[in-house]
Amino acid sequence: MQKLYPKLKEAKLLVIGTPTYYWNVTGLVKDFIDRTNPLYHTGSLKGKMGAAVAVAEEDGQELALSAISSFFELQNMKQVGSIAIVRGDKPVGAAELKMAKTLGETIASKIA
Ligand SMILES: Cc1cc2nc3c(=O)[nH]c(=O)nc-3n(C[C@H](O)[C@H](O)[C@H](O)COP(=O)(O)O)c2cc1C
Repeated sequence: MQKLYPKLKEAKLLVIGTPTYYWNVTGLVKDFIDRTNPLYHTGSLKGKMGAAVAVAEEDGQELALSAISSFFELQNMKQVGSIAIVRGDKPVGAAELKMAKTLGETIASKIA
């Protein structure tokens, strides 16, 4: 995290993406969230923008997004977009890529 703290402080917008594991974010994403705690105490993420992406095979993607949204809210960030993808037993397809493109365009417009 020592290498990430300066980058997080510099960033205008954070995009957090996760596969859905047990109707939640992965352990790695949760560790990342928890280890931003020093930045909570200094208010370093306050006012920055956030976007979230969760991909699931069947279900639980909304709860994964909710965990990321809660992180943005608790860090006093502004969420500017999110996408929840249920891919079933297929790889992510054209419709999902279109959603991702739209989110990408939103993000680009926010940081321009
Ligand atoms: C440990 C584990 C837990 C998972 N839990 C869920 C789940 O709760 N709901 C779901 O729909 N898919 C679940 N999946 C499937 C993944 O969310 C899905 O395959 C996702 O696309 C994985 O992303 P990846 O391609 O980066 O592995 C789980 C997969 C693993 C390995």
